[in-house]
Amino acid sequence: MSDGGPAVRRLSDWDREQLLSLADEFGSPLYVTDLQRVRENCLRLREAFPEAHVSYAVKAHTGKAVLETVLDAGLDAECASAGEVERALAAGFPGNRIRYTAVNPPAADLDHVVSRWEDNPEMTVTVGAEDTVGRLTERGFDGRLCLRANPGVGAGHHEKVTTGGHAKFGIPIDRVPSVAEDVRDDVELVGVHAHAGSGISGDDLSAHRELVRRMGDLARAIGGLEFVDVGGGFGVPYHDDEPPLDLAAVADATRDALGDTDAQLAVEPGRYVVADAGVLLSAVNTVKEVPETTVVGIDAGMTTLLRPAMYDAYHAISNLSRPDADTVSTTIAGPVCETSDVFAEDRPLARPARGDVLAIGNAGAYGYEMASTYNSRPRPPEVVLDDDGPRVARRRETLDDVVTLERTASEHPPN
Ligand code: LLP
Repeated sequence: MSDGGPAVRRLSDWDREQLLSLADEFGSPLYVTDLQRVRENCLRLREAFPEAHVSYAVKAHTGKAVLETVLDAGLDAECASAGEVERALAAGFPGNRIRYTAVNPPAADLDHVVSRWEDNPEMTVTVGAEDTVGRLTERGFDGRLCLRANPGVGAGHHEKVTTGGHAKFGIPIDRVPSVAEDVRDDVELVGVHAHAGSGISGDDLSAHRELVRRMGDLARAIGGLEFVDVGGGFGVPYHDDEPPLDLAAVADATRDALGDTDAQLAVEPGRYVVADAGVLLSAVNTVKEVPETTVVGIDAGMTTLLRPAMYDAYHAISNLSRPDADTVSTTIAGPVCETSDVFAEDRPLARPARGDVLAIGNAGAYGYEMASTYNSRPRPPEVVLDDDGPRVARRRETLDDVVTLERTASEHPPN
C-alpha cells in the first residue's frame, strides 16, 4: 500500500467509538471530514496521473480546511463561480493554481472574477459560449483563456449529472477550432476543456475514452495549446459490494485515447477527492412499526444531504450505537415535510432505538455543499479530523441565522 492509502474507505472502516464520541460532543446532525483521507485521495490521483495537471473541483466540498489540505497536497483548484474563486484565494491558492470555469456566468461573477484576475493575472478562465469571450474582453480581460467544448458524448451516475452532450455546456466541438482562431487576437488561448459528467464507473469508461479521443483530436487541430483538460467525474463506490474504480486503468485508458499531443493532459475530479473522507452522523428521533416496514425517523433530512432525494443516490448507513443487534428492514427518513425526504427504503439496519446514532457514508462530496435551510432547518456543523484531533470547521447554524436575512433586510436594499 502506498502513502495514498487504500483505494476505498468504506463506512465500516471508520472508528465507531470515535464517531459516537463526536456525536456526543458536537451533537447531531454532524458532518465529519477526515483530512488525512483527503490527502490520501489527492496522492493517489497524483500517482495515477503523474504527467498530468490535476485540479480539484472545489464544488464537491468548499470547506476551507479541505481546500488548504488539497492545496498542500499539490492539486490546483477548479472553481465554478466567483464565490468558489474567492474561497480558493482565501484558502491560499495562488492565481496560477486557479481555473475558473464559467457556466452561463452572471455579470456579477464576471465583474468579480475579472477584478480578481487583475491582481492574479495567471488565473485561467474557461468559457463555454462564444459570447462569454466578448463579455470578458469588454471588462478588460486579455489573460489565459480555455475553451470548453461540448464533446457530444457524456456519462454519469444519473441523467441529471451527465454533462457531456448537454447543450447547456460548452461550444459544439466542431465549432471550437474556428472560435480558437477568432479569440487568439484578444486573449492568450491556453487550453481546451470538456467534462463527461459525474460518477463515472468502470462500466462507463467507453464514453470517457471517446470524449478523450475527441479532445485529443481537437487539441491537435488547434495546435499550440498548453493543456487539454478532460474533466473530472471519477466515481467512488457507494455500495459496500461495489469495487473501487481502478484509477491506474482509467489513467491508462485516458493516455491511450488522448494520443500524441504537445498539450499537457489535465483532469479535475471533485468527488474522488472528498467523498469517502466524509461521514454524516444523525440521531434517531422516532421508531415506528408499521405493517410494511420499520420507519426510522432521523434528525438529518434532505436539507442536510440532498443526494438521495435528488438523484435517488444510495449511501451506506449503519447504526453505530448497536454494532451487534439483529437487523430489521427499515425506511430511513428525515424530518422534512416532503415524501422525497427519505434516505433509504427496504434497508437492513441493526434494530434501532430512539437516541441511536446512525452514520451515513460517502457524505464528503456534494453533502454539506448542497445543504439548504428548506423548512427553516438550520444547517449542521462540520467537524474536521486532523493530527491535532477534531475541531469545528463550520459551526452549527441557529434559528437566528435562518431568519437573519429578513431581520436585516432593511439595512441591505436589494441592490
Ligand atoms: N469539472 C466540471 C466542469 C464539473 O462540472 C464537475 C462536476 C467536475 C469537474 C467534478 O465532477 P466530479 O469529479 O465531482 O464527479 N451534485 C452531484 C454532482 C454534480 C457534479 C457537477 N459537476 C452529485 O451529488 O452527484
